[in-house]
Amino acid sequence: MASLRYAVITGANKGIGLEICRQLAANGVIVVLTARDEKRGVEALESLKGSGLSNVVFHQLDVGDPASIASLADFIKTQFGKLDILVSFKPSFPSFFFSGFLLFKSNM
Ligand SMILES: NC(=O)c1ccc[n+]([C@@H]2O[C@H](COP(=O)([O-])OP(=O)(O)OC[C@H]3O[C@@H](n4cnc5c(N)ncnc54)[C@H](OP(=O)(O)O)[C@@H]3O)[C@@H](O)[C@H]2O)c1
Repeated sequence: MASLRYAVITGANKGIGLEICRQLAANGVIVVLTARDEKRGVEALESLKGSGLSNVVFHQLDVGDPASIASLADFIKTQFGKLDILVSFKPSFPSFFFSGFLLFKSNM
């Protein structure tokens, strides 16, 4: 059996980030949909769940807030123990923080 793959998408409550969440989840990846605003993030999560995607969870992330980044990293270590895919559109996001996990990063 193939091992599970885990992804974090930043700025995922709308736009390209949300669509990437949708497509990764539809392909069996466990997706952490992140947004800086919890209400907008949960609404985006519910929109995916409403279309039948259950393998998506929400975690708050403001890429400009070190405490928020640390909280997400702790969540990933605790819940999954690894990260296979990181999709971040924000060049300021400190990918070195995830360097032990990083396989892919997109800075558009
Ligand atoms: N759409 C295109 O055709 C296109 C083409 C080429 C390149 N791009 C680039 O791709 C990126 C995404 O495009 P998009 O169309 O998906 O943009 P978008 O619809 O405006 O979405 C941007 C996302 O980034 C989030 N965000 C902003 N600041 C953040 C922060 N400090 N921490 C966490 N999340 C933050 C926004 O959250 P809030 O809702 O809280 O603001 C939103 O979820 C942009 O950099 C854009 O320039 C887009």
